[in-house]
Amino acid sequence: MKLITVSTSLEIYDSIDELPEEVITLMNTAVEARIKAYAPYSKFQVGAAILLDNNEVIPGSNQENASYPSGLCAERTAIYYAGAKYPEAIIKRIAISATSLNHAVTAPIPPCGACRQAIAEYEIKQNEPIEIYFMGESGEVAKSNSLRDLLPFAFDKSNL
Ligand code: THU
Repeated sequence: MKLITVSTSLEIYDSIDELPEEVITLMNTAVEARIKAYAPYSKFQVGAAILLDNNEVIPGSNQENASYPSGLCAERTAIYYAGAKYPEAIIKRIAISATSLNHAVTAPIPPCGACRQAIAEYEIKQNEPIEIYFMGESGEVAKSNSLRDLLPFAFDKSNL
């Protein structure tokens, strides 16, 4: 037997005000996207904004469906659109913000496992780390310097 140990880390900022101006702007785009979420079932609204190296910003929000599994998270809505519209672009950064119509969301909301897998595909494809900032509607903001920190031991093309 051998043991493989992976160390991972997240940066935690007390509030959005501690972030660089360009990240605040991207997070504000995620908040605007969040307001446009279609989440009549969960009432949990998520917005994402993706900054590309061509300076385009791609927003996305969760899109739910009466057939629940047919819905899609904000992060994948945005990243698949980014991939479809600018297939050659490098993804620099993703900002994510979530709120609920039922309660205040003050803790950072991380991307779900399926979204991590989707983001991993693009990070590996471009061979450059993607910064991921995530928060609730207020409070602390978490930053991952790479998707790898959120999904160690990822499944990727080398496993096929
Ligand atoms: N959701 C996202 O949009 N992103 C995530 O990473 C977590 C969950 C959405 C999916 C669903 O519409 C609602 O939040 C509740 O799970």
